[in-house]
Amino acid sequence: MAVELVPKVYWVGAVDWTLRDFHGYLTEAGTTYNAYLILDEHITLIDTVKKEFVPEMLARVAELVDPEKISYIVSNHVEMDHSGGLPETIARVRPEKVFCSPMGKAGLSRHYKKDWPFVEVKTGSEVSTGRYTLAFLETPMLHWPDSMMTYLKEEKLLFSSDAFGAHLASSERFDDQLPDYPPDYLHQLKKYYANILMPFGTLITQLFEKVAKLGLEFNIIAPDHGLIYRRPAPVLEAYQRWAAGTVEKKALVIFDTMWHSTEMLAEALTQGLMDAGVEAQMHHLRRSHYSDIITEVLEAGLLLLGSPTLNNGIFPSMGEFLTYLKGLRPRNKAAAAFGSYGWSGEAVKLINQELQAMKLKVVHEGFQCKYIPDPEELAAARALGEKLAREQLRT
Ligand code: FEO
Repeated sequence: MAVELVPKVYWVGAVDWTLRDFHGYLTEAGTTYNAYLILDEHITLIDTVKKEFVPEMLARVAELVDPEKISYIVSNHVEMDHSGGLPETIARVRPEKVFCSPMGKAGLSRHYKKDWPFVEVKTGSEVSTGRYTLAFLETPMLHWPDSMMTYLKEEKLLFSSDAFGAHLASSERFDDQLPDYPPDYLHQLKKYYANILMPFGTLITQLFEKVAKLGLEFNIIAPDHGLIYRRPAPVLEAYQRWAAGTVEKKALVIFDTMWHSTEMLAEALTQGLMDAGVEAQMHHLRRSHYSDIITEVLEAGLLLLGSPTLNNGIFPSMGEFLTYLKGLRPRNKAAAAFGSYGWSGEAVKLINQELQAMKLKVVHEGFQCKYIPDPEELAAARALGEKLAREQLRT
């Protein structure tokens, strides 16, 4: 069913209850693709949905109006979870205009190779739909270079595209309808930020500055995934904190192991962290999904990464994790490697090199032991965990 946000503005998106993998991100709670319809003199559709959900979206539109009466489409973002539905929708609707950023036009043209009636808009461009005015705000890299947001001025309603989104399928459409909001929802919001937007913290801070300068206020924020916020303050506050790279007194021990030696070191280090009174978590790389570990990385101030040496290198699961971590450009974290080895022992050094390449603060040359750690080595690992927590997390 279409759901009204403000007079004559409706959610007409789709709920993807069974999605469990969003280009590698574990979406254990599914997601939504939010599209919005403005019933005005120029009937306007804001974004579409993933290709296979077009019938669901158009059925919601048809509850309100004949889809062929849509005259404007706004495409805030090229990624196919939002634009995949454009070809079928445009073929059916034949809109007068398709508004997008200049990069959006380039991106949509590369994706779909169609001669659509594009109208390029930039920050400050405005379009009247009749009673309502849409103002556009380019937000490059949030999430792709083409990304922009659309602001419905009269209602102070921001269609924020990917920003402020969360992967959560639910029957509720608004934050104030979800029984456990905000704690449970904030976890999904954090997971989304950590896995999608963590590299762009500086840009997000700049966006907040730009919004303040433009004097924009938000009564409602309507992202393209998850809930619509009628109480946006907790979400805005969380984004400002994450964008600033604020960390907590929290340390993660992330490892893989072959015959439990690296695991024994991980346990000793974790015990040491707990001795120092900080929040500590231990994650086995083949038992926790990397997108869940990254969620915890976001606010952690200390990372200890452990790997046995395998064939003169890093264990494959740790190599994969380091690749993912590096791409997300973590900030403001101390880090160190540990691990076990049989004869050559390169893994610890290689991990530390990767951590340095990420510009993290490497705080130890690497703790390692040959074959199986003895009680003295375990005691030393525990003492090291406590020392690093006290020094780096300022307990
Ligand atoms: Fe939800 Fe960048 O797409």
